Amino acid sequence: SSSRLVLGIETSCDDTGAAVLDETGAILGESLHSQKEVHLRTGGIIPTVAQQLHREHIERVVQEALGRSGVTPGQLSAVATTVKPGLALSLAIGLDFSRRFVRRNDKPFIPIHHMEAHALTVRMLRPVAFPFLVLLISGGHSLLAVARGVDDFLLLGHTLDEAPGDTLDKVARRLSLIKHPRCSTLSGGQAIELLAKGGDRTKFPFRTPMGQTYDCCFLFAGLRNQITMTIKKKEAEEGVEPGAVLSCVEDMAAAAQHSVASHLAKRTHRAILFCKAQGLLPENSPALVLSGGVASNQYIRKALTIITEATGLQLLCPPPKLCTDNGVMIAWNGVERLREGKGILSPDVDVSYEPKAP
Ligand code: KG4
Ligand code: ZN
Repeated sequence: SSSRLVLGIETSCDDTGAAVLDETGAILGESLHSQKEVHLRTGGIIPTVAQQLHREHIERVVQEALGRSGVTPGQLSAVATTVKPGLALSLAIGLDFSRRFVRRNDKPFIPIHHMEAHALTVRMLRPVAFPFLVLLISGGHSLLAVARGVDDFLLLGHTLDEAPGDTLDKVARRLSLIKHPRCSTLSGGQAIELLAKGGDRTKFPFRTPMGQTYDCCFLFAGLRNQITMTIKKKEAEEGVEPGAVLSCVEDMAAAAQHSVASHLAKRTHRAILFCKAQGLLPENSPALVLSGGVASNQYIRKALTIITEATGLQLLCPPPKLCTDNGVMIAWNGVERLREGKGILSPDVDVSYEPKAP
C-alpha cells in the first residue's frame, strides 16, 4: 500500500519492544521482551542487568516485529525510538541500535519522548481531539498534563518523590508477596490488586497527604512510610519475623491500594477544577486519558471514574497491553509526528539520550 510505515523501538526501562505500524495505527507486526521476572527476583531493577538484557534481545525483537509485519527495512518511512526520559544505560541500547539501523537503511529518525508516547497512545484507537487532560502513572512516573498537540504539553503536576507503581512495588516487597502462592509471578502492583479483592480496606485507615496543597503534584513516600510502620506493628502483634506473610495481608493490600487510588483521585480532581477554571479543556466532551502500568488497576480506574463522572469528563484508557511499555506506542508517536512533520531527523544527525528529560 502507499501508507507510510513506521518502526517503533522502546528500551527506556525494562521492556525491549518493537512494532511496525501503518499510518492508520494498524499494528502490522510487534514483539516485546519483558525483563520483569528477572527484576522481580532481584527485588528491583539493576540498571547494568537491564542494559545487558536489552543488548541481548534488541536485535531479535526488532527482527521479529519486522518479520511478522512482512515489511522490509527499505519499505519503512521512518524509525521512531525512545530517547528520553528513562534509565541511561537502557536508553543507550535502543538509541545505538536505531542510529546504526537508520544509517544502514538511509531512513529518517524520529526521537521519541516516552511520556508523550504514553499520552498519545489512545489516539491510535479512537479520534480523541486535543486538548485533553492526561494522567500518567507507572513505576517511574506520575504526572498530570494537558495535551494541547502532538508535541505540546502543559505540565500541571508531577510526583515530588516517588511514582505510585514504585510505591506499590515497594509495599509488595515489604509484604513478601513474591512468597505468596497466588502472587509469585506478578508485579507488585498486580499482586496488591489481586490480594486487595479479598481484603477490607477500612482495617487500616491511611491518611493521604497534601490536603492543603494547592497544586496538582503528588507525594507517595510518606504514604508508603505509614504503610510500612503499620506492617511493622502488625508483625510485632502477630509475633512473626519481618519477611513472613502476615495473616492480614489482604486487608493491608486493600488499604494500601485504596490510599494510592484516593491520593491520585484527589490530585486529579484538583487538576480538573483548575482546567475548568482556566478554560483549558473543551466545553464539548472533555476527556481524561489515563495510561501507564498502574492504569491497568481496576480499583484505581474506578476511583478516577467517580471523579470524572462528577465533573462531566469522559475517562479514556487504552487496554492494559498498551498502557505498559511497548514498541507500538513509540511507533504510533512516530506516525503522529510524521503526519505533522515534527522532529523528523536525517539518518546522520547526532542525537543523544536524556535520562532526566522533563
Ligand atoms: O508502564 P510500566 O510497564 O513501566 C514503567 O514503570 O514505565 O509500569 C510498571 C508499573 C509497576 O510499578 C507495576 O507494579 C505497576 O506498573 N502495575 C500495576 C498493575 N500492573 C502493573 N500497579 C497497580 N495495579 C496493577 N494491576
Ligand atoms: Zn512507561
